[in-house]
Amino acid sequence: MAGVIIVGAQWGDEGKGKVVDIYTDEADLVVRYAGGPNAGHTLVVGSEKVVVRLVPSGILRRDALCLLGQGTVVDPKVLVGELDTLDAKGLSPRDRMRVAERAHVILSYHILVDGLREATTSAIGTTKRGVGPCYEDKAARRGIRLRDFRNRADLAARVTKALAAWAPTIVALGGEVPTVESVVEDAWAAGQNLLPLLADTAALTERALRDGKRVLFEGAQGTLLDVDHGTYPYVTSSSAIAGGACTGVGIGPSRIDAVVGLAKAYCTRVGGGPFPTELEGEVADRIRKVGAEFGSVTGRPRRVGWVDLPALRYAVRLNGLDSIALTKLDVLAGLQTIRACVAYDTPSGRTREFPVDELESATPVFSDFPGFSQDVSSAKSLEELPKEALDFVRFVEAEVECPLSIVSIGPGRDQTIVLAHPLRDA
Ligand code: IMP
Repeated sequence: MAGVIIVGAQWGDEGKGKVVDIYTDEADLVVRYAGGPNAGHTLVVGSEKVVVRLVPSGILRRDALCLLGQGTVVDPKVLVGELDTLDAKGLSPRDRMRVAERAHVILSYHILVDGLREATTSAIGTTKRGVGPCYEDKAARRGIRLRDFRNRADLAARVTKALAAWAPTIVALGGEVPTVESVVEDAWAAGQNLLPLLADTAALTERALRDGKRVLFEGAQGTLLDVDHGTYPYVTSSSAIAGGACTGVGIGPSRIDAVVGLAKAYCTRVGGGPFPTELEGEVADRIRKVGAEFGSVTGRPRRVGWVDLPALRYAVRLNGLDSIALTKLDVLAGLQTIRACVAYDTPSGRTREFPVDELESATPVFSDFPGFSQDVSSAKSLEELPKEALDFVRFVEAEVECPLSIVSIGPGRDQTIVLAHPLRDA
C-alpha cells in the first residue's frame, strides 16, 4: 500500500504540475481532493501547451487512472472542454478518468455571484470561477451534485431551491436572477457527457490501496489558502491542506504513507490579502519575468516576495510534511542578494512562528545570503550547485526542520534533482 499526498506549502502555484508529473511515473492512481477550476496546470502535450484546471496532471501518463474526488467542485462545461481538448490530441482521457458522483457542481449562478461580489469593495481577488459560492451551497445543504444530472426534473427542482436562496443576494448585488430552465439548459449537455465517468471514487481509491497500488493525492491551491488554517478571509473555500485528502476523497488517515510539501525558493501570491515578504520594483519584476509568474487560469501577474520560513514551518506542522520539494531555485540565479524571512517582529515580541492572524502588524526579520550568478539548471546533484545556492538550500532545510526530497532547477523534467522518491520508497 502506498498513499502519498502532494500539497502546496505556500499560497499555491508552487509548481505542483511538474512535481506531480515526475511522481506520476510511479503512480497507478492520481486523485485530486479539493478545489475546482480555480487551479491551473500547464501540461506539455507533444510540442503544445495545454492549460487544465480540473483534469489531474497525471492524465499525461497513459497507464495512470485519474480521479476527481468528492471534495472537488466541478464545472461540467470546463471539464468536458478539457477532456475534448485532450481527446483531440490523441490522449483518450475519458478511458482513464473517473469523477466522484457526489462532487458538487458549479452552475451559472455561482459564477454570477462570484463575479458580482468581486465587483464590490469586499472583493478578495478570487478567480471568479464560482468556487466559493458552490462550496457555500454544499455547506448550506442545498448544493447540486453530479449524480443529480441523471434526472432533469429532479435537477430542476434542486436548482429551484438553490436559486430561491441566492435570489436576494443576486438582486442586492445588482444582478439579474436567471431562470431555472436557463441554468439547467446551460449545464445539461455537459452533465450528460460526464455521466459515464461518474463513480464512487472513495471506494475505487480504497480498493486500489488494498490491492497494493500506488496512489498520489494531488492537492490544489496551498496551505496558506486553506479555509481553516490560511490567511482568512483571504483564502479559498476548501481544505487545501493534507488533511483535506482524507475528507475530500473519503479515505482514512491510516492510508497515507507520506506527505510531500511543495515550496518555491521564493514566494508568490495571487489576489488580495497580507503578504509580508512581498517585493516591489526591479527585483520583483525580474523574478516575475524569469519565473513566468502569471496566473495560468486568470493570467494575472502574481505578487512576488522572498521565501517565508515561519510560514513554511507552519506548513510543515499543519500538513505533517515528511519532505519538501523545493522548486524554481533557478529563478533566483543572477540576483546579487537572496533574502529569507526567518522570524517576525509582532506587537507581542519576536517570534519564529507564522503570526497568521497578526500579519498586518507583523514585520518580517530577514537573513541575507550572497546570490549566485551561474546557471544552475543543468546540475545533476546538489553538489553540482554553486556553493551560494547550496548554502541557501541547506539553510532553508535546516530552518524548517524538514528534509528535501526534490530540488527543481528548471521547467524540464530532467531539470530536477530527486533526492528521495516517496512513492517508490513507500
Ligand atoms: P477562489 O478559490 O477563486 O474563491 O479564490 C480565493 C483566493 O484563492 C484568491 O486569493 C485566489 O487568487 C486564490 N486562489 C485560488 N486558486 C488558486 C490557485 O490555484 N493558485 C493561487 N491562488 C489561488
